[in-house]
Amino acid sequence: MKEKWWHNKVAYQIYPKSFNDSNGDGIGDIRGIIEKLDYLEELGIDLLWLSPIYCSPLADQGYDISDYYNIDPRFGTIEDLEELIAEGKKRKIGIVMDLVVNHCSDEHEWFKKACEDPDGPFGKFFYIKDYKDGDELPCNWRSYFGGPCWDFLPGHDDKVYLHVFHKKQPDLNWENPLLRKEIYKMINWWLDKGIAGFRIDAIINIKKKLPFSNYPADRGDGLSSINNMLKEASGIGEFLNEMADECFRKHDSFTVGEVFNEKDSELPLFIGDNGYFSTMFDFSTTFIDETDTATIEPVDNLAEKYKKAFFKSHKRVEGIGLLSNIIENHDEPRGVSRYIPKEDLTDKSKKMLAGLYFLMPGIPFIYQGQEIGMENLSGVKSLKELDDCANPDLYTRAVEDGLSEEDALKYIARWTRDNARTPFQWSDEKNAGFSEGEPWLMLNPNYKEINLAKQKDDSNSVFSFYKKLIALRKNPEYAEAIVYGEFEPYLAEQKNLMSFKRIDGKTVLIAANYQKEAQTVALDRPIKSVLLSNTEEINYDGESLRLNGYDFIVAELRNCS
Ligand code: NOJ
Ligand code: CA
Repeated sequence: MKEKWWHNKVAYQIYPKSFNDSNGDGIGDIRGIIEKLDYLEELGIDLLWLSPIYCSPLADQGYDISDYYNIDPRFGTIEDLEELIAEGKKRKIGIVMDLVVNHCSDEHEWFKKACEDPDGPFGKFFYIKDYKDGDELPCNWRSYFGGPCWDFLPGHDDKVYLHVFHKKQPDLNWENPLLRKEIYKMINWWLDKGIAGFRIDAIINIKKKLPFSNYPADRGDGLSSINNMLKEASGIGEFLNEMADECFRKHDSFTVGEVFNEKDSELPLFIGDNGYFSTMFDFSTTFIDETDTATIEPVDNLAEKYKKAFFKSHKRVEGIGLLSNIIENHDEPRGVSRYIPKEDLTDKSKKMLAGLYFLMPGIPFIYQGQEIGMENLSGVKSLKELDDCANPDLYTRAVEDGLSEEDALKYIARWTRDNARTPFQWSDEKNAGFSEGEPWLMLNPNYKEINLAKQKDDSNSVFSFYKKLIALRKNPEYAEAIVYGEFEPYLAEQKNLMSFKRIDGKTVLIAANYQKEAQTVALDRPIKSVLLSNTEEINYDGESLRLNGYDFIVAELRNCS
């Protein structure tokens, strides 16, 4: 693996609508982000990914873009963004924008022109098909948010258009070279503004298996998950390579792909030395609690499943490239609520989870609020309190699968993307210090206990632990081992022990007791020094470590002589 400028970076994701509101309209904004740059610098962040802030009707919270070249007035102006880029540079923080090019908004001028003249040049920017009421749709794919992925083209009762996400997110036709040219022009316009790169949304969807055809229905609605089609679609590499050549490689940008379903043989193409992207997210742990039918039961064997998934995906890319590690993002429940059993959720177990994903090979991404241990929403009483456009289908699915209304609400409370989208908890003051006005989405009622103000100067807080993790990753003595070191699972078969070594000249052992009962870890070499832990009490007898429940420890081991 060739060394790259971004290998040793730590990234932070901002969901702008919920980060910090500077003008009291209840919506976070760019000036609010600028106000918090010193905070992010203090934490030790190098790259700042902003979820979309372009002009948008916000049907899918900005992932439906109506103008790629402008900032939505709710978030600020292009001048604000330029200031953010410049202020970021002063603090060595690079801005990473979200690149949403599988689809745009139905309010984008391309789509409006396509509606005016479906046979004209802009009609070819989308997938538009003739359709008469009563006919079968061109295919039976289910949109990611539920229901068929075809809708009538506005103004035409004899045509439908494709949207694999919300109906306000028409899919762009990547088979059309003119569309691709427009996209590359836009990407370069942003890169020339001095951003560090892009997080690339839903990119695996840009290649469709054509001609459109049906797949076996997998739910009572007679539709089929898009994933069934994606498994058969081939040839995406030509688009991605072209995009990389036309845009990213020229700028030496940092790019992180939202990629699912890639095949082993494609890994070097995606994230190898000259891959389409710098890196891509490791979503392996987000599948361990997937079930065929909706349930509110806790996951069995959570710790073992977590460890196996994580280890496997990093072994898979060994020698090829680096993945980007997360425990949550704006599409997932809060990691601490998901990967730690409810009865064991404490600052200690939160720190353990933080330390594990942070010291695995790869680029750590922190999602806003994760660094203070923000949790899933509790006490959701009705769907009306929530916002996300994916909620109705989640609810329908839960009821279809036989859950009572009460349990269906619990199911939503566990899975809704709103869990991660509640406003950042800055303090225990009005609206958690997020806004002077009425926040656009409910606050997590626990903000009185969980907030930054309470944790900032407490050296035992979750926040301080994240700071220590970042400092360790950047400590020149250990950076080589942590960034480039070989990854060796240690005692991987020992139940609920998640332990591994990072070896590069030095040997760093990371060991976590992922359960509430104590357990002993036999060491193959003596500990030279403890670098970090989430406990004051280190029980080491020269040969083994006795770990209490959720203990987490990072230690340098003596090299064999
Ligand atoms: C993935 C984004 O992260 C998610 O929030 C969005 O709904 C879809 N892609 C569609 O853009
Ligand atoms: Ca605002």
